[in-house]
Amino acid sequence: MEGKLRVLIVNGSPKGEHSLTLQHSLYMLGQEPAVEWTVLQAGEALSPIDYDESWLRAAIDEIERADAILWSTPVYTMLVPWQLLRLFQLVKEAGRNAVFKGKYATSMMTCFHYYDHLAEAWLRATCEDLGMAYMEGRTADNMDMLRNDHRASMRFFMREFVEACRSRSPLERKYAPLSDRPSPRFELAATGAIAKDGQKAAPRTVLLTDEYRKDGNLSRMIDAFVDAYPYPVEVVDINDFPYEAGCHGCLRCELVGECDRKDGFQEFYLNLVDTCDALVFGMNLEGRYLRPVWKLFLDRTFSNGHRTSMMGKHTAYLVAGPLRSLPNVRQFLEGKDNVGRENCMAIIGDEYDDSALLGRLLRDGAVRLARAIDGRYQKSVNFLGWGGLKIFRDLIYGMRGVVRDDHRFYKTHGLYDFPQKDIPKQLFNLAMGLAFTLKPVRVQAFERMPSMYILLHKRIVDSGKP
Ligand SMILES: Cc1cc2nc3c(=O)[nH]c(=O)nc-3n(C[C@H](O)[C@H](O)[C@H](O)COP(=O)(O)O)c2cc1C
Repeated sequence: MEGKLRVLIVNGSPKGEHSLTLQHSLYMLGQEPAVEWTVLQAGEALSPIDYDESWLRAAIDEIERADAILWSTPVYTMLVPWQLLRLFQLVKEAGRNAVFKGKYATSMMTCFHYYDHLAEAWLRATCEDLGMAYMEGRTADNMDMLRNDHRASMRFFMREFVEACRSRSPLERKYAPLSDRPSPRFELAATGAIAKDGQKAAPRTVLLTDEYRKDGNLSRMIDAFVDAYPYPVEVVDINDFPYEAGCHGCLRCELVGECDRKDGFQEFYLNLVDTCDALVFGMNLEGRYLRPVWKLFLDRTFSNGHRTSMMGKHTAYLVAGPLRSLPNVRQFLEGKDNVGRENCMAIIGDEYDDSALLGRLLRDGAVRLARAIDGRYQKSVNFLGWGGLKIFRDLIYGMRGVVRDDHRFYKTHGLYDFPQKDIPKQLFNLAMGLAFTLKPVRVQAFERMPSMYILLHKRIVDSGKP
């Protein structure tokens, strides 16, 4: 390759020049003398619902001129911000996907490492689908770059990327292409709606969807589910909300309390999660994620900070599209559910040749959701939930003077489960620490361990009591 390598930094952060991630990208490229770079402020330009179309045309030209792309983006709601998703969507709608083909790409992300792997996986798979050669990127938290050793690795990484672009090194394709075969049509059997329990105390159930009463599998899945569900369901089409713009990460919600956007979304969402007992989601997949309107919606829910408002309630997801080929979308739903302790009772896809079977799954899911609400069933939490909660716990505790509402929530809900606060455990470890310096004690512990470990549990089992 002759001359300087032209790298386009596509800044997905809606904060534009104030983006922390951008500082990382500028630092790395600033260390590379043989590179010429420009910045495309995509996150900022695509925040308003009514974006400037001349900006998009110029943006596509810039992408076309670039030799390589550095996606510079924060992680938002376990993915990239809606604005970056929107850039891909708009380029596609303009029929210009070919501008990406053959280019090298990598990413720089900043975040708190909360599901950042899903964000990079989506970005990588999307780039690979567009025929780009993607090199594994970097993620950093807000302090990493201040360390010398971290900056040394950033410089190494960028040198490797530039070298890969120059020598057109082969890069592994990580994700298989998605099949464009649509899901089989779901034929809704006329089973009829069961009588709704209109009792005064019926749980408030809201179904949020991006498609309702259209000729799509999702609409028919919703009908089957609602027909079988014993309580009234309010259906809300999230396309109908008059969004002013996407979340622009200003943190006014965290610092002052109210959202910077004045379209009423914060009130709408808080009212929804505060008053409902169950949320059902009807979601269409698009590309390698959900329909982009979901990202707009989910990013805006950030105005509730890190308070897991659906805690202890119940959810279900009806998903139309190639869910089996998108395990990361499933992980996103399960992770969101696990961290929020939302008790997801069903994630039902539509990839069934047998409509009768899908119909049964939907009816069964609806009834199971109702039973779980009535029985106040609480699901167990796995790694996805515990891992996420520990990240939030440390983050909020570390920022408790600033994120005061989150701090209060974590305190009142007992989510500060730091091991050093467990006094009995501290004393136990102190005593054992001393005793265990003696080998005979360790040998005895080893011999008694199997029965000691289950002693209390066995007592419950043996008692036969509930
Ligand atoms: C709406 C919103 C959603 C976020 N979601 C996540 C997330 O899912 N995971 C994470 O680790 N950080 C998340 N963050 C934190 C940002 O990724 C982090 O602050 C990042 O450094 C911001 O970069 P920027 O200044 O370039 O925009 C979120 C921040 C906002 C405003």
